[in-house]
Amino acid sequence: MRSNTSLRNFTGALLLCASAAAVLPGGAAAQSDEPIKPIPTELKLDPKKVALGEKLFNDKRLSRDNTLSCASCHNLSAGGIDGMASSVGIGGAKGPINAPTVFNSALNFRQFWDGRVNSLEEQAAGPIHDPKEMGSSWVEVLSKLSQDAALVAQFKELYPDGLQSKNVQDGISTFERTLVTPNARFDKYLRGDKNAISSDELKGYELFKKYGCVACHQGVAVGGNMFQTFGVMGDYFAQRGNPTAADMGRYNVTKNEADKHVFKVPSLRNVALTAPYFHDGSAKTLNDAVAVMFKYQLGRTASQQDKDQIVMFLRTLTGEYKGQPLDRIQRTAAK
Ligand code: HEC
Ligand code: HEC
Repeated sequence: MRSNTSLRNFTGALLLCASAAAVLPGGAAAQSDEPIKPIPTELKLDPKKVALGEKLFNDKRLSRDNTLSCASCHNLSAGGIDGMASSVGIGGAKGPINAPTVFNSALNFRQFWDGRVNSLEEQAAGPIHDPKEMGSSWVEVLSKLSQDAALVAQFKELYPDGLQSKNVQDGISTFERTLVTPNARFDKYLRGDKNAISSDELKGYELFKKYGCVACHQGVAVGGNMFQTFGVMGDYFAQRGNPTAADMGRYNVTKNEADKHVFKVPSLRNVALTAPYFHDGSAKTLNDAVAVMFKYQLGRTASQQDKDQIVMFLRTLTGEYKGQPLDRIQRTAAK
């Protein structure tokens, strides 16, 4: 109920902004008034740290049995995910939850579905220690990496105190900050290129705002900036069945009753490439996910055409990585 009320207030505030924008002289409903913002195209990061971080991101020595790197579950040629409902860690250990993409994770206000860590630096230590992911420890990882003279030298050059866990975390997170995907067609539209999206896709965006999806999925990442209950308008979990500990969401962090089934609202950037959806990986297609959102987050029904147009809009959120459209990288990698 609590998040329901705040959501209503929030939507009210959005509507107020929209009407204020409408009375601007010259009818200039400026792009800056849109609830979704384009991803900045410029990054200022130390290229040497980025290169080190990229190496670490792909380094299997970060797992106990040297079988998994970060990239094993966050495949950069496949939307930054593993494509499974829930991840599989070392020794085939089945994890409790769906792997979100690492693309644009730098834009999230917190990391993980339950927001249990605040920064990417802190996040990087998580999978290394998680027995169902990489199952290792800093002692193990640092002892393996310290036998690699070239890597040790690289650390020494970039960090006064050399190879240390905090510098591994810094390198990985610096690399992760490069994993933003600017220049989506929708961003081009926001920057003034009216032909960047079709009339159906634009209609989808209007519906996304009109129905209130934008109350939760907004900002630069089209999400990633607030917590919300999954099942505001109905008990999603009772209908799905087979409750898991992960379903408790933020409650697992705070032990606060009001946080049961509360999750970080995920970013919808590149969402066309990140199936299956939700923390439980239960929605196989974008159409399925949108239908669930209508039912449980909005408590509304919509025509098939409205839902289809919203999906068309969501497909315009696919951006570029290293100057290449993310879906093209995916097609090339699949060959
Ligand atoms: C075994 C598969 C696996 C491996 C290996 C793995 N991850 Fe993840 N990653 C996941 C899963 C599953 C989650 C979601 C966990 C949760 O929310 O509780 C996740 C979450 C994340 C997030 C948070 C994204 C968000 O939107 O909240 C980031 C960032 C991330 N991983 C980066 C990394 C890095 C860096 C490494 C290597 C040090 C790594 N991952 C290794 C499966 C994996
Ligand atoms: C009250 C807030 C709220 C509203 C309104 C809302 N969503 Fe969501 N959305 C969420 C939350 C929270 C999740 C994550 C649920 C989970 O997996 O636990 C989510 C997940 C999603 C996902 C899956 C993303 C992924 O990577 O798994 C899609 C797609 C999505 N929403 C689209 C929409 C659309 C389209 C609308 C409007 C029809 C909408 N949402 C309305 C809060 C909201």
